[in-house]
Amino acid sequence: MKIACIGAGYVGGPTMAMVALKCPDIEVVVVDINEERIKAWNSDKLPIYEPGLLEVVQEARGRNLFFSTDTKKHVGEADIIFVSVNTPTKTHGIGAGKAADLTYWEGAARLIASVSTSSKIVVEKSTVPVKTAEAIGKVLRRNCQDPNVNFEILSNPEFLAEGTAIEDLQHPDRVLIGGADTESGQKAIKTLAEVYAHWIPRERILTANLWSAELAKLTANAFLAQRISSINAISALCEATGADVSQVAHAIGTDSRIGPKFLNASVGFGGSCFQKDILNLCYVCETVGLKEVADYWYQVVSMNDYQKQRFVERVIGAMFNTVSQKKIAIYGFAFKKDTGDTRETPAIDVCKGLIRDGAKCCIYDPEVTPEQIFRDLSAPKFEWDRPNYSRSQSHMLENVQVQSDPIAAADGAHAICVLTEWDEFKKYDFAALYEKMVKPAFIFDGRNILDHAKLREIGFIVYALGKPLDQFLQKNYS
Ligand code: UDX
Ligand code: UDX
Repeated sequence: MKIACIGAGYVGGPTMAMVALKCPDIEVVVVDINEERIKAWNSDKLPIYEPGLLEVVQEARGRNLFFSTDTKKHVGEADIIFVSVNTPTKTHGIGAGKAADLTYWEGAARLIASVSTSSKIVVEKSTVPVKTAEAIGKVLRRNCQDPNVNFEILSNPEFLAEGTAIEDLQHPDRVLIGGADTESGQKAIKTLAEVYAHWIPRERILTANLWSAELAKLTANAFLAQRISSINAISALCEATGADVSQVAHAIGTDSRIGPKFLNASVGFGGSCFQKDILNLCYVCETVGLKEVADYWYQVVSMNDYQKQRFVERVIGAMFNTVSQKKIAIYGFAFKKDTGDTRETPAIDVCKGLIRDGAKCCIYDPEVTPEQIFRDLSAPKFEWDRPNYSRSQSHMLENVQVQSDPIAAADGAHAICVLTEWDEFKKYDFAALYEKMVKPAFIFDGRNILDHAKLREIGFIVYALGKPLDQFLQKNYS
């Protein structure tokens, strides 16, 4: 059997590497239009940072795992084709700001149709709006010259989280496969289930109809994001009333019906999926006339925007209502730890908010490149989900500096903002950093990872999200 995957990104790369590792009898080729990315996948400096990924790639690469730009050849030869290309949010036209732009998906479908001389199973891996399979099916069937070629479309949503992708792929809670309720649809589901059964217990391989599988992906992400927005809403209330959000989260998390995971208050959720999937969900609701349902879910995104804005206002308010010309060190730019991914990272909105008020941001992140940071801070909203989006002219960048050394980033700064929960931040010598900073020296912990009591002992004015406010800060807010 041969598998091809279109799109060698955060989803396609690691997923196919794991399939190849676990299924030595299957040839897996990952193709991409981006030559540089493919080159990187073929080297030992992979294009994405993911703990444990290199070892998996090294074991399978050249054996039964290949990375190539020859899309036509490998798609033509494959029995199963995974599609994992970008699905950006539309920026203009009908549904702008919420609907998914399926340009790349449709392009992939046309390509598959044009090179297919044998029947194929086409698997949706990218997040797509509900009913995409129907549209894609039409494109495939109408564009293939050979009447004997049959296309079976499956929805097999990815649930891996970045930073823990290898563990998630190796031991998933479940694999979900949706397919048509026809004989050939069920056969295709079985074929794909066989692939996963190489390493995943059968009872964890769930099957569903196509629409349920597509909707389950959007719903799972909407529920996860909702938990974060819920605890973030409570974090604001904690600050206003003197409660501690960690204690509240711990207390509710011990209720087995609620559970302890995903209850960390933060400066906001980021990542390529949460916001986009919720917006997609809302758009689907609106198109079928369910305005109240759409409004309900929109609120999860609004609360996330509020949390980022609230953080910016805290920083500015604490620093005597002016950050003009003040250097602020930003610790962490990735949307979470253990990844170099910055898509929809809260750091973008926080930095832009501070710069708009005149601050000079000096950014340090152990994995994100300066080029990426400059691109993110100059690009318009939603641009990140287009292949090869580039840096544009923006006055924002005049006030951005990227530092490869965290100590230098804090030198002469008025404040440090922790925006990503990287483990290394906990180990820094903050007494030494304090010496280098302008006084009063502030720390704004947007992830609640630092030892706040110790920082206060050193002399810092500390703001910790959702925690009782420092006396110093209360004066500014009363
Ligand atoms: C995830 C989701 O699955 C997707 O829905 C979302 O839009 C982006 O995030 P991910 O693998 O993380 O996918 O995305 P990304 O790292 O951007 O990878 C997509 C890859 O597809 C890129 O390498 C891009 O070059 C490639 N691509 C895109 C193609 O090969 N052909 C195209 O026509 C378009
Ligand atoms: C998410 C889903 O978890 C995954 O199943 C899906 O396939 C893709 O989207 P990912 O975006 O990679 O994965 O990371 P995740 O761990 O879910 O974190 C998303 C965001 O929420 C991050 O910005 C993270 O910092 C934030 N978060 C998470 C919190 O703020 N608090 C929490 O308690 C958990």
